Amino acid sequence: MRQIYLMCFFGSVLQTVKTRINTTDFCFEPYCTCNKKQKSATCTGLDYVPHVPKFVTELELSHNNFSDVNISRWFLSNITKNDIQKFKLIGNSIKDVENDVFVDFFSLKSLTISDEKQLNVTSLCNALVFVNTTHLKRIDLYSNYWKEIPFNVFEATSLRKVTSISLEENQLTEFMFPDWYTELKNLKTINLSKNNIIALILYDDVKLSVEKIDLSRNDIIHIPSFCDKMNKSKVPKLRSLILNGNAIPYLYPKCFSCMPSLQNISLHANRLTVLRNNTFSELPQLKHVFFQFNYQLKTIEPTAFNSTSLISIHFGYNNFRFDKKNNKKARFNAENIFKHTPSLEFLDLTNNYLPSDKTTLGLMFAHLDKMKYLILQTVGLRKLHPNFFRNLISLEKIILQGNFINSWAPETFDNMRNIKYINFRNNLIHALNKSSLSEHILHQLEKLDLAKNPFTCTCDLMWFRNWVRTTKVNLSLDFPRGYTCNFPAEMRGRLVIKYNPTPENCEPTNPFIVIAIILSSFAFMVITVILLAYKCHTYIRNYCYMVRLHRLRKQGYLRLSNSEDFEFHAFVVYCDADREWVHCEFIKRLEDERIKLCVHHREFDPGVPITENIDKYMNKSWKVVIIMSNDFARSDWCQWECDYVQERRRRQGKDACVLIMLKAIDAYHMTSGIRSLLHTTPYLRYKKGIGEALFWQAVLNTLKRPLSVPPMAI
Ligand SMILES: *[C@@H]1O[C@H](CO)[C@@H](O)[C@H](O)[C@H]1NC(C)=O
Ligand SMILES: *[C@@H]1O[C@H](CO)[C@@H](O)[C@H](O)[C@H]1NC(C)=O
Ligand SMILES: *[C@@H]1O[C@H](CO)[C@@H](O)[C@H](O)[C@H]1NC(C)=O
Repeated sequence: MRQIYLMCFFGSVLQTVKTRINTTDFCFEPYCTCNKKQKSATCTGLDYVPHVPKFVTELELSHNNFSDVNISRWFLSNITKNDIQKFKLIGNSIKDVENDVFVDFFSLKSLTISDEKQLNVTSLCNALVFVNTTHLKRIDLYSNYWKEIPFNVFEATSLRKVTSISLEENQLTEFMFPDWYTELKNLKTINLSKNNIIALILYDDVKLSVEKIDLSRNDIIHIPSFCDKMNKSKVPKLRSLILNGNAIPYLYPKCFSCMPSLQNISLHANRLTVLRNNTFSELPQLKHVFFQFNYQLKTIEPTAFNSTSLISIHFGYNNFRFDKKNNKKARFNAENIFKHTPSLEFLDLTNNYLPSDKTTLGLMFAHLDKMKYLILQTVGLRKLHPNFFRNLISLEKIILQGNFINSWAPETFDNMRNIKYINFRNNLIHALNKSSLSEHILHQLEKLDLAKNPFTCTCDLMWFRNWVRTTKVNLSLDFPRGYTCNFPAEMRGRLVIKYNPTPENCEPTNPFIVIAIILSSFAFMVITVILLAYKCHTYIRNYCYMVRLHRLRKQGYLRLSNSEDFEFHAFVVYCDADREWVHCEFIKRLEDERIKLCVHHREFDPGVPITENIDKYMNKSWKVVIIMSNDFARSDWCQWECDYVQERRRRQGKDACVLIMLKAIDAYHMTSGIRSLLHTTPYLRYKKGIGEALFWQAVLNTLKRPLSVPPMAI
């Protein structure tokens, strides 16, 4: 008997040693992957549960095929020799679990069942009753798409030490907290997010020890009431209530009550249209309000944020129009909105619409003297008035990214004695100069982000370029890449620190530049005057003439040109065909009367062009005599001289020329020049024989007649 006993004993020892060798060092490849450091293993693609190395305390069985087996104590026997602390069953198509399945998990701290859509939750609930450990802290039953769970799912006494329960991403439509939840004295978080929960039902006498309830992405319309019959809290330790992505349309006054420890409330993406007075004022410990993506918000009542404890308001992405009225009714009250939040240190207004007028922002921020961090990103600001930030004396960071700001008064930031970070990224700033930020602000800044602004790389930017080259202030991660010139066009894209104008160009008081500017503007003026004078010279000359005439008339005397002023009495224009008559008759007769005539055959200087001669001698002559005939009318030269005479007649009046019709010009030879001359000037007709003496007398008289009528320029 003793021998048999001994053999059995040795046999079992040998067996143990054998399995130890098998299982301690090797992972069950290729189905399992092990991580010795993390003491973990993951097994996939099996239809049973294999041995895993001895060191494994964290086991995940994911995507195996357990659809045809009863998950029992025996089925898991290969792993229960390990000291499993974390056990995960993910996507194994489990249908049922036996009551005894978890009996051998003596060290289990965390149980995860996920993606087990077909699992009979009642059987799971029964199995949880037989959990044979007091270490179990976490139960994660997420992404199972269960529509219901038994009312008493976590009631088992074995679960009394649980601190965290997750039922995320199921399809529950309601969730109950019966009285036995009071016994889960360590329960701190319960995650019910991504369900279809409409109502949270808390029994009358239940008292939850939870600190965080996550109800995000459900279908909640009303804030659940946490007050008991005595108006005491059912959640005295609740610190965070997360209600993001629900369908809450309205927050009743005092709806947040009986939550004496609540610090964070998250209401992102609901359907609120109005924030009522005193919404949060019943929450004595409230510190952070998360209120983003509420696009339907139209009205904020004056004391909506009334809370003496509130430290931060995350109000971004609401598209709220602080800059417009709603059907002529104010959407908010600039003076009161933050007047009742004396502890506010953080305010994020990203992606709303702020007005740029002088007063509104100044009023909004007037009471925020504890404010440390202000985010005004993409709020449509165009201008910064100095009084906007006048009372933000504790501000350390201000984000003004993505607005349309191009300049501000130097004193805008002066009251911020603790400012460390200003972000002006993505605005319309062209240049900064020495006075843009006062010296003490520049001195204490640790970070200044000016990237993505359209800098104008002209001399105005020299100070800024020099400053960014030398400053120790952090200019953001994308410095120098993000600091580029946008103007002038040829500089576009160039880095600001590489902008190198020649220093002379940018000397602020270069006297040569000043002189050059003065000279060039003077030259410009002179050229303009000359051009004008050229264009209007006739008007100017006429005007001068009239002025002179007027003055002479006033003095009662008018200078007449006189024959004594000239070398010749007259210049005789005739054509060659009439030469004989001119020489033998005309000149002879008149020179006998001591009239000096200029005749081109006689007087003209040899070798000088004939036009010049005509010009010269006409100017020396007092009058012009024109001997006209058919031949004259035919000759081009005579025509030209005729035009010349016309011009002179225009200047000196009709007495300046004496027309003599030697032979009548017939219609065939009449030219327009001659016709107009004859039309405007009386002429003498020559006829041999009777009346000839009278003709000569008339010629003499006409030649001697003074130029009495003052000539008029036309
Ligand atoms: C235990 O694991 C071995 C392989 O390691 C396997 O052959 C056996 O079927 C497993 N036992 C159970 C009960 O699944
Ligand atoms: C689920 O399991 C419970 C207990 O194990 C059993 O009574 C019930 O019939 C099962 N439900 C279904 C649908 O199989
Ligand atoms: C909200 O509070 C302000 C100031 O206390 C008050 O003037 C206003 O009438 C209140 N609005 C409503 C709707 O009660």
